[in-house]
Amino acid sequence: MLEQLEELHTQALNELGKIDNIAELESWRVCYLGKKKGLPQILRSLSTLSLEERKRVGAKANEIKKSLELILTEKKRGLEEASVISLVDREKLDVTLPGRPIPTGRLHPITQTLEEICDVFKNMGFQVVEGPDVEWDYYNFEALNIPQHHPARDMFATLWIDSEVGEKSRLLRTHTSPMQIRIMEQSRPPIRVIVPGRTYRYEATDATHESMFYQVEGLAVDENITLANLKSTLFEFCHYLFGEETKVRFRCDYFPFVEPGVEVAIQCLSCHGTGCRLCAYTGWIEILGAGMVHSDVLKRVGIDPEIYTGFAFGLGVERIPMLRYGIDEIRLFYSNDLRFLKQF
Ligand code: DAH
Repeated sequence: MLEQLEELHTQALNELGKIDNIAELESWRVCYLGKKKGLPQILRSLSTLSLEERKRVGAKANEIKKSLELILTEKKRGLEEASVISLVDREKLDVTLPGRPIPTGRLHPITQTLEEICDVFKNMGFQVVEGPDVEWDYYNFEALNIPQHHPARDMFATLWIDSEVGEKSRLLRTHTSPMQIRIMEQSRPPIRVIVPGRTYRYEATDATHESMFYQVEGLAVDENITLANLKSTLFEFCHYLFGEETKVRFRCDYFPFVEPGVEVAIQCLSCHGTGCRLCAYTGWIEILGAGMVHSDVLKRVGIDPEIYTGFAFGLGVERIPMLRYGIDEIRLFYSNDLRFLKQF
């Protein structure tokens, strides 16, 4: 019996040595110290022994039981400590590591261009105002000297909102020029404003046409405003935006709401006038339409053309970053491709 006990003891110690987690330790405890197995079971069979033997075996068994219990507590503590240490080790934070970069947003290239254009004109004393995208026929056409059936309506492929025709018909503004009328209806000279905004045309899209695009309208009305003021304002603007050296060209053009009307071009930034694909081999790139506000337009809004004169201009915005950065596809601006947008 004593031998059996010794064997059990050695076996228990051996097995304990190999245990490295709490779950196994628990099975070990059940096996050697549990009520139904191991030592307690041996102790139960003591009754078959003589009194003398019972004392010896009993004492030995208790001694082993105590020693196993002691070693179990120690082992348990050891394992628990080890598991805490390994947990701490696994979740260790190296505060000296550099942080992960957070991707920052940026302004859309068209927004950047608009801000830049507005800044140039603000520095020249212009106010910035905005107007509605959904416009009346009256403001978009009638009041700008483009009545029903006027051939100039063909210049603007219009997206109509209302199906019936007439002044009260609504449309998506085809240009920012209707704001000239709204501004002059609401204020008296001296007027100096620019109007950045979205404009729409019913057109098939291609590399240089979009059905939605941006324009910036300009309007100045006061006593003694002349074509020379228009020229100096736009020369200043072009030089600021495209560089002091850039050549600017004024030529006659027709727009019903101005007289005289002009078309403004800059010398091609890519070939400097010798002719290339970008400028369609003309050496020049048109960037805006402008002119002296037509006297009929002034009369319509109650401004006396005998006292006041004004100039107006309308500028296509997408053209500018396209020229500056050599972008040959307008649709890139509005297709939300981050690979493109991130470059600005
Ligand atoms: N609104 C014209 C267009 O979209 C551009 C334009 C031309 C605006 C002459 C003007 C102007 O203010 O005076 O084609």
